[in-house]
Amino acid sequence: MATIRSVVRGCGYHLPERVLTNAELSRMVDTSHEWIVQRTGIEERRIAAEDETTSTLGLKAAEKALADARLTPADIDLIVVATSTPDFTFPSVATQIQAGLGITHGAAFDLQAVCTGFVYAVATADKFLTSGSHKRALVIGAETFSRILDWTDRTTCVLFGDGAGALVLEAQLGTGTSEDRGVLTSHLRSDGRHREKLYVDGGPGSTKTCGFLRMQGKEVFKHAVGMVTDVITDAFKATRTSAADIDWFVPHQANKRIIDATAEKLGIPSEKVVMTVQRHGNTSAASIPLALGVARADGRIKEGDLVMIEAMGGGFTWGAALIRW
Ligand SMILES: CC(C)(COP(=O)(O)OP(=O)(O)OC[C@H]1O[C@@H](n2cnc3c(N)ncnc32)[C@H](O)[C@@H]1OP(=O)(O)O)[C@@H](O)C(=O)NCCC(=O)NCCS
Repeated sequence: MATIRSVVRGCGYHLPERVLTNAELSRMVDTSHEWIVQRTGIEERRIAAEDETTSTLGLKAAEKALADARLTPADIDLIVVATSTPDFTFPSVATQIQAGLGITHGAAFDLQAVCTGFVYAVATADKFLTSGSHKRALVIGAETFSRILDWTDRTTCVLFGDGAGALVLEAQLGTGTSEDRGVLTSHLRSDGRHREKLYVDGGPGSTKTCGFLRMQGKEVFKHAVGMVTDVITDAFKATRTSAADIDWFVPHQANKRIIDATAEKLGIPSEKVVMTVQRHGNTSAASIPLALGVARADGRIKEGDLVMIEAMGGGFTWGAALIRW
């Protein structure tokens, strides 16, 4: 049956130039390269310069995605930005990127689901496009987590980094089967009872500051694998596909041990797992589009490939989407 699908037209990413290595971190807090690599897989991360913000990183990623799609800003009528580190409480990062691109039509808004933000943003844009209300969307994950880290807390400051990635999605007619190109299914979940395990201890409505990230790492780890394998299984069921059909598994890049355990539980071989956490750290909502951008640029992800994205993060929120590229 003819169905509208949100098809990936282009993809781009942007990272700050400044690399912060584990060796440098071990001079700032009581940690070591070996500890960080063994527990997380992270070797280095990027840190935004003084004059870089979430919207400047997101704008550069958006421009690269548009160039990759061979489209101009005028072709875009929807911008959805997933971020938990906006430049300002308002206006949204999305409207700043819209202005930076010179777009004066359509709609632009931010969406906040912490590390699951990009999966939420893909699912949201997909609903707009498949409803027929919009034609082409920029879906962006952009973060400057370095700005909400307590740089004296070794249990969190070693884990995160800054960056941005973007996809251009376009409404195209498909046949309604899992052979179609585009977003085939998306599954979103949340459970606010887990607030205390991963949160920021400030905000405009409470402390009137932006606050710092706080985390019970062990608690997050305990829940992560089960939650994401659940929604991935839902995505397989909804599309009558299985782990064997996947060409690329592109998980949220929080921790190598979580990624390895999830892939193993699902029976996805390591050659199909895109891993960028060693170079980028955890860039929250930016981590999936950064990983997609890297794997597309180096030729791994090709048109027609079946790509599973998934994430879990603060809230808790979690989700997965299956995309045929
Ligand atoms: C954060 C994480 C790497 C910590 O690893 P862990 O094995 O759970 O370690 P623990 O928290 O039990 O801490 C073990 C010890 O290492 C210490 N430690 C914590 N951070 C450290 C660091 N950066 N360097 C050295 N030692 C550190 C702890 O203080 C603790 O010491 P103690 O035993 O003397 O009290 C791990 O819990 C994790 O990856 N959790 C998931 C986090 C995540 O992905 N969050 C984002 C989700 S979107």
